[in-house]
Amino acid sequence: MKIRSDSISAVTAKAERPIHGADRLALPCSRSSPSEGEPELILSDPLLREKNISASFGIASYPLHGSSPQELIQVADASMYLSKHQGGNAVSTADHFDPNEAKKWKRDVLEAYLGVTLKRLFSTGPDAFEEIYQRLKQFTESLAATESTNGTPSPTPFGTQGLPQAVLDTVTSLAFAIDAKDHYTQGHSQKVSAYAALIAEGLEMTDAEVEEIRLGAILHDIGKVGIPETILNKSGPLNPEEWEIMKSHVIFGAKILDPLTPLAGVRQMVLHHHEFFDGSGYPEALSGNNIPLGARIIAVADAYDTITSDRTYKKGRPAMDALAELERCANAQFDGAIVQLFVRTMRQLPNPIIEVATAVGPRV
Ligand SMILES: [Fe+2]
Repeated sequence: MKIRSDSISAVTAKAERPIHGADRLALPCSRSSPSEGEPELILSDPLLREKNISASFGIASYPLHGSSPQELIQVADASMYLSKHQGGNAVSTADHFDPNEAKKWKRDVLEAYLGVTLKRLFSTGPDAFEEIYQRLKQFTESLAATESTNGTPSPTPFGTQGLPQAVLDTVTSLAFAIDAKDHYTQGHSQKVSAYAALIAEGLEMTDAEVEEIRLGAILHDIGKVGIPETILNKSGPLNPEEWEIMKSHVIFGAKILDPLTPLAGVRQMVLHHHEFFDGSGYPEALSGNNIPLGARIIAVADAYDTITSDRTYKKGRPAMDALAELERCANAQFDGAIVQLFVRTMRQLPNPIIEVATAVGPRV
């Protein structure tokens, strides 16, 4: 199947015959939106009825459900299982599901859908943000409904354990995609994560707390998905209006994590990672210990990687210069105790620059 325009859909179907088992096939269709009426015409075919053949159809439409033949077939296939689970002789798209159905198959369908729709990131800006936010909200709510047995959601454990892996994969892929938008920040989230974990371990936090901070650091700039690329990739300095828009990435970041209630702690880190210890930061001008600890840690890790890395407008500075700069800003921009711990730890390392593989991006 070849994608050549915006008018391709994929239909997968499973025909089941009592004697010979089941056959599956994928059909590309050239139309802008798949018609559910046509497969139903097939289903009502007298010959099929006479031979006692049932068929389940799943429909995926380009570009809504995928950008490649593989993605379209994956989603159509998942939707087909939705039809099959309804008893066969039905047509489904990935958007149609019954929240009262059993959870295993539905999670498979939702994860398939999440896997191919949210990991595609063509552009950033308010529209891209809104689409991703709504999808994430829709599917986390559906998953919560699926997990409940009597309509009341069961209590969800907090932390990464409380979320389906597909949702975690989705948001981390999104963060890596933001990095990849600008070659000069590629790998930034992972390096900030490594530095932040080093600090958290130095503070003798529990393994679960270290992991939460590691994730918070990966996701700290995820809200940049809501910032137009003209601002995100501008080579010169931002004007005051553009700067205000750029600052809103912390609000976008917190909002995108709103539906993921087990990540409430991570959300706080994302929202407050640009607060200053003296109260002159944003978005809420929090000061001192009122700033969540994870956010204070990420602020130091973020600044260190920014100072030591190349950017479009500057060369990265040596590690020792960066550590001196952090010390200079201790108790003004940064928590002095965290700076002290970080500087002491880094000065003991033979090479105080953490390198990470930068060949990352959204999985498609
Ligand atoms: Fe940021």
